[in-house]
Amino acid sequence: MLNSTLGADNGDIPCKSQCPLDTNLYIGTIGQSVELPFLGGYIFEDAWLQIVNKMKLLKQTDVIGYLTEFCGNDALPKCDFSVINGINHIAFYLGDYDTNEQVLQWYSFLQNKAKCGEEITSVLMGPSYISPKQYGTQGWWYSLVFKDDFVIELFCCHRFGQWRDKSSKERVDLMSHLAFEVTQMEAVKPLIEGLERIENHLQVIAYTEQDEMGHTYGHVRNNQSNRVIELVHQLPIEDGGQGETV
Ligand SMILES: [Fe+2]
Repeated sequence: MLNSTLGADNGDIPCKSQCPLDTNLYIGTIGQSVELPFLGGYIFEDAWLQIVNKMKLLKQTDVIGYLTEFCGNDALPKCDFSVINGINHIAFYLGDYDTNEQVLQWYSFLQNKAKCGEEITSVLMGPSYISPKQYGTQGWWYSLVFKDDFVIELFCCHRFGQWRDKSSKERVDLMSHLAFEVTQMEAVKPLIEGLERIENHLQVIAYTEQDEMGHTYGHVRNNQSNRVIELVHQLPIEDGGQGETV
C-alpha cells in the first residue's frame, strides 16, 4: 500500500501539510556561485546537526506529492505506484571535495558517532558507481543506520573536470535523492522502465538486481530538472537481506 503520510519521530516539527516540499538535499546553502563547499564549510558537529534536522523533516515527505512533482506533470504517470510503501532512505549531497583527506576525516567523525552509539549504530563508506560513469568525476558514498533503523546516505564528488562546469543546484540534484521502498522485488524494474517509457524526460540511469546486501534498486533521473529518485526493494533480513542500503 502506498503511504502518503510518513511521520515517525516527529518531535516539534510541523505536520507535513505545513511543510513545503523540500527538494534541497545539500548540507549547507546553495548560493549563486558555483562553489559547493564540502559539508557546506561547517565544522563537523554543525554539519551533523544540519543532516539530522533535514532528515527529520524529510521523513515526513508526502510521497505522492513528491513523486508527482518529480515526474513533472500535474498527475502521476499511469504506472503501478501501489507497490511503493514510503521512504526507504534519504541521500544528501555533502558538496565537492578537493582531497581524499577531507573525505576520510569525515568518515572518522562518523565512525566515532557509530562507536558511541547514541544516534547511529553503523556507518559504511565506498566509491560512487554513478559519478564516474555519468558525470566524469570520482565520488564517495557513506551509508549510516540510525538507532531506529532508518538509513541515510551521504555523497560527495571530487571537484574535477566537467563536473565543475555544472551549476551548484544541478550538482546537488544529480547526486542526492529520496529513495522509495518497493514492496516486491519483481516490481522495481517494471516501474522504473514504465516511468522511462511514459515520460520522455525520465531516464533510468542505474539498475541493480539483488546486490550482495539483497537490494534490487534503480535510479531514475528527470532530465529537465536534473533531479533523481531511487526505487528500492530491500530483502528482509530473514530472507538473507542486510539492513543497509547504498
Ligand atoms: Fe540511494
